[in-house]
Amino acid sequence: MPSVVKINVLTVPEEMRQELERRFAGRAGMVESSDGFEWFELLRPVEGTDRYLVYTRWRSEEDFQRWQQSQAFQAGHAQAQGEAQGHGPGHGHGHGHQDHGQQDHGQQGHGHGGGPAASASEVWSFEVVQTATPTPKP
Ligand code: HEM
Repeated sequence: MPSVVKINVLTVPEEMRQELERRFAGRAGMVESSDGFEWFELLRPVEGTDRYLVYTRWRSEEDFQRWQQSQAFQAGHAQAQGEAQGHGPGHGHGHGHQDHGQQDHGQQGHGHGGGPAASASEVWSFEVVQTATPTPKP
């Protein structure tokens, strides 16, 4: 079975880019121990787009779905959810649990700290068709 790639595409207002990267720098690091997890990268836009890509790769769709329903996902999004429930400095910023509340992000809470880091998000799904890794040097 080919691996699957799940990319969370985050639209981040210019003034929130540092805040988003700060939150990821403080991330829970729980995804690493999730069954079927293969790879994670946070990609900062440089050219061609202004959207951040949260790149994840999984052994199977089921492994991704299991993680997304898991405590590890909730814990991995604790900062965002904490703020969503008004525990953070700003008013809740609508990080929806299951439906990843795209519609929530832009509407509640603005500014730094407790506000939403992303103003919109969508998930792109791919199957890995071909891969190449560097040839080990002799
Ligand atoms: C509404 C949608 C989402 C937003 C706004 C969002 C935002 C964030 C933020 C700000 C963090 C840093 C930690 C935190 O603040 O708690 C985080 C962690 C993470 N997000 Fe999301 N996220 C969303 C959904 C997703 C989805 C669908 C994926 C997978 C494709 C994903 C993959 C990850 C990963 C792998 C981490 C690190 C978790 C860990 O360290 O265990 N996120 N996310």
